[in-house]
Amino acid sequence: MSNYHIKHLEEYYKVYRKSVREPEVFWEEIAEEHFVWRKRWDKVLSWDFSKPEVKWYEGAQLNITENCIDRHLRTNGNKTAILFEPNNPEEAAQHITYNRLYERVNQLANVLKSQGIQKGDRVCVYLPMIPELAISVLACARIGAIHSVVFAGFSATALSTRINDSDCKLVITSDGSYRGKKTIDLKSIVDEALEDSPGVTNVLVVKRINSDIVLKEGRDLWLQPLLDEASIECEPEIMEAEDPLFILYTSGSTGKPKGMVHTTAGYMVYTAYTFKNVFNYRANDVYWCTADIGWITGHSYIVYGPLANGATTVMFEGVPSYPDYGRFWEIIEKHKITQFYTAPTAIRALAKEKLEFVDKHDLSSLKVLGSVGEPINEEAWHWYNDNVGKKKSPIVDTWWQTETGGIMVTPLPYVTPTIPTYATLPFPGIQPALMDENGEEITGNQVDGRLCIKFPWPSIARTIWGNHQRYKETYFSAYENKYFTGDGALRDAVGYYRITGRVDDVIIVSGHNLGTAPIEDAINEHPAVAESAIVGFPHDIKGNALYGYVILKETGESRDQTNVRKEINQIITEHIGPIAKLDKIQFVPGLPKTRSGKIMRRILRKIAGNETSNLGDTSTLLNPEVVEEIIKNAII
Ligand code: WT7
Repeated sequence: MSNYHIKHLEEYYKVYRKSVREPEVFWEEIAEEHFVWRKRWDKVLSWDFSKPEVKWYEGAQLNITENCIDRHLRTNGNKTAILFEPNNPEEAAQHITYNRLYERVNQLANVLKSQGIQKGDRVCVYLPMIPELAISVLACARIGAIHSVVFAGFSATALSTRINDSDCKLVITSDGSYRGKKTIDLKSIVDEALEDSPGVTNVLVVKRINSDIVLKEGRDLWLQPLLDEASIECEPEIMEAEDPLFILYTSGSTGKPKGMVHTTAGYMVYTAYTFKNVFNYRANDVYWCTADIGWITGHSYIVYGPLANGATTVMFEGVPSYPDYGRFWEIIEKHKITQFYTAPTAIRALAKEKLEFVDKHDLSSLKVLGSVGEPINEEAWHWYNDNVGKKKSPIVDTWWQTETGGIMVTPLPYVTPTIPTYATLPFPGIQPALMDENGEEITGNQVDGRLCIKFPWPSIARTIWGNHQRYKETYFSAYENKYFTGDGALRDAVGYYRITGRVDDVIIVSGHNLGTAPIEDAINEHPAVAESAIVGFPHDIKGNALYGYVILKETGESRDQTNVRKEINQIITEHIGPIAKLDKIQFVPGLPKTRSGKIMRRILRKIAGNETSNLGDTSTLLNPEVVEEIIKNAII
């Protein structure tokens, strides 16, 4: 019997040891006991990181939607599968039961078939966070079509590039979307994108905002009338374990996005098993992840992981600031959320606002808080712990990547003692390695290095769509026989990992390696600072010097900027040492961020280095206007 739900630390270590000593036995037991298969596998694992090639559960046949929907119907058909909370709090929330989800997924699957979509075809989904987004993903999986969800905040150019890269034949979109006070005209973005994407023959349009849009004759159709005609039964396509399930684009060091390919069986097993344990999921919980399904977090931990466990998963259409900054906390109270999973950038933004927004809501239903996407700084961690979790809900700081498919390094709530800023221990099956500059593994504890993974896990991406060579070069060439994450990490005395940030964010100043994250943590300790970002710029004597971009809190009172600069350097000196002091500090209204909330340091580096004539690809920026503002006042 596998220990599917790990309940105490000793058990974790026991399970972890087994997962390393006998990985095949370990993953075989989990697959056997917790999923439905149409045919059993012949071989649990075969792998070769030098090619690279990884296969899990080869020979097995299944359909992931049978695991996420059908098998729950007998016992849990009337349970809410998807709880939809609309942008406008006045609009009623929707409780979509497993029974209803089954019908809606099958209807859309039948519509896709009627539009000529077959197993292996690529379907682009460009939708806001409405139920049809999750339903589209599942409908593709039902018939074996490969979904490529593009975040509905991406521009027409970004959308077209992604559609073309994977030759999508069909696009599912909506007339528009609601985002706070704004409505966004999605369909016209699709129209513009498709001017450069001639391969798309059909567009299905969900009506969301009832705007007057033009349907292109012979290409575009309203979805609802087709659904109304479609059968609620659709036999699931029987898939091979290693058939692609989806493509999801992630940005790389070059301009061209990488279409990460995830396959069926291993992805299903890993996302389901991690969901259960990382969120300590129990039968009547109401789980909410605030990510968008346009990102891997939404794929794995809004759709597949929760549904494979028969959970109730919340989809929120809106933004944390609408109608006011209390919206998240209001939703937690309204739906009695038990697990809340969000990003440090959201936490920092909300921590800037009056505490009243949090305090006026009853958050006592919460049992687990999660963080993902970037290192969570100490100040944000404590604010989250004190004010949201009331020091009673463990925080799981989950480290993982689009490429890893699922959570890799994380505490297990009520199992792993947590320390702020530490992602703590590897999940069962994950074998991290820290590497030095010479490509040697650094053993022992209290060390730091480049984070690699030295053994395959079931949800590792198998390739980059159409470019296996780039996949090999990006992830398997830096260190022989290891998957390289691009992150740096340290391992402390008890074996806990702390992710220190992208390795490319390490700045060498006068021969000293300085991570940007710890310096930023120090700066953020200053009571007037809301957020900060550090980059290096060329310096005659030191090689590199540090440039800090700092957002001050809006408190309404004026401050002597010279004093704040001095105080910031004082704090850095105290926390890290004088070596980490900033040469330049620019106060800025915002930081350039990708739509997933990551600071685009590449742009900040260029500004600091006075190379603003060519900023490179900025199509994924959420707030391009802030860049001009920063350039205008740059300290050169
Ligand atoms: C990169 C992956 C995984 C879903 C969202 C991001 C950083 C992610 C953490 C964390 C420190 C983190 C890493 C990683 N990152 N989670 N808990 N602590 N850093 O997916 O866009 O593919 O980004 O995000 O640098 O490599 P992604």
